[in-house]
Amino acid sequence: MIQMIERLRLQARDEIALASDGGGLDAFRIKFLGRKGLIGQLFDSLKDLPADARPETGKLLNELRSYVQSLLDERKASLRPAENRAELDLTLPGRPALTGSLHPITKTLDEIKRIFTGMGFSIATGPEIEDDYHNFEALNFPPDHPARDMQDTFFITDKILLRTHTSPVQIRLMESGPPPVRAIMPGRVYRNEAISARSYCLFHQVEGLVVDTNVTFGDLTGTLVSFSQQFYGSSLKYRFRPSFFPFTEPSAEMDITCYLCNGKGCRVCKYTGWLEILGCGMVDPNVFTAVGYDPEKYTGYAFGMGVDRVAMLRYGIDDIRILFDNDVRFLSQF
Ligand code: DAH
Repeated sequence: MIQMIERLRLQARDEIALASDGGGLDAFRIKFLGRKGLIGQLFDSLKDLPADARPETGKLLNELRSYVQSLLDERKASLRPAENRAELDLTLPGRPALTGSLHPITKTLDEIKRIFTGMGFSIATGPEIEDDYHNFEALNFPPDHPARDMQDTFFITDKILLRTHTSPVQIRLMESGPPPVRAIMPGRVYRNEAISARSYCLFHQVEGLVVDTNVTFGDLTGTLVSFSQQFYGSSLKYRFRPSFFPFTEPSAEMDITCYLCNGKGCRVCKYTGWLEILGCGMVDPNVFTAVGYDPEKYTGYAFGMGVDRVAMLRYGIDDIRILFDNDVRFLSQF
């Protein structure tokens, strides 16, 4: 019996090489492993052996069966690529893995945040659904100020609205704790404006606020010039123009030389050579009073800049609406 097992092992090893297709493999399987196959017949004759020889022989037969099964599996696997060879072209370029990309607004915001955190600013956020008090009143807007007009503000109720700027986050931040404060506040803002390639009903701003003892207008200009040089390039020219905001006194707007035409004048800077990049000023004492800071003890500066136009200039985008469409054909370019 043991000799027969060994002979069958060699026979299977030789015959598997002859199976060269599915039919050959099947015939091999039936011949050796089928219910009435060669190995099965040996299993059947186990009962004719003396009882004490059966366990050992049974074990050898089991081993033979796994060996023959493995011969069959290996042969099957080695034949498969040969059958499919026509479909496999190793010279084809690989399929690129699709990865997501960051939105141009996100990239611009990340860069602004990186620069300000490098100058010791922390980052704060506030709600997009605001109340009249934080959006206007605490920021020293007089009750009849035109910015409260229905034309600009999306009112939800009489007193609840979509914030029209990020300045209310200044108020919330100061309400949340005493000075010193040194933070930027990025976020979305909403205005009820006619939608066009240049303006949309929502856009992004970054607010800034610094409050401490002895904060001066020189600190304000120094910080904003340093930011602009890091963001727009160290060779830029700038100017501060007097302006007005209810929550700062004095107030200013900062212009930089148009970096598209280098100050010569072009369509983007409306042939002035200058681009207005932000509003700023020294925090009005009325604002400090509203949040419970002592205006005799503390001074501070604030600023607010738009993000969308900057992102559009950076990435050569000429229609603001496309920033909000979530069209992957646009987004995948970044
Ligand atoms: N909130 C102003 C706006 O939306 C921008 C601004 C101007 C913010 C001056 C400030 C500031 O903090 O000091 O037009």
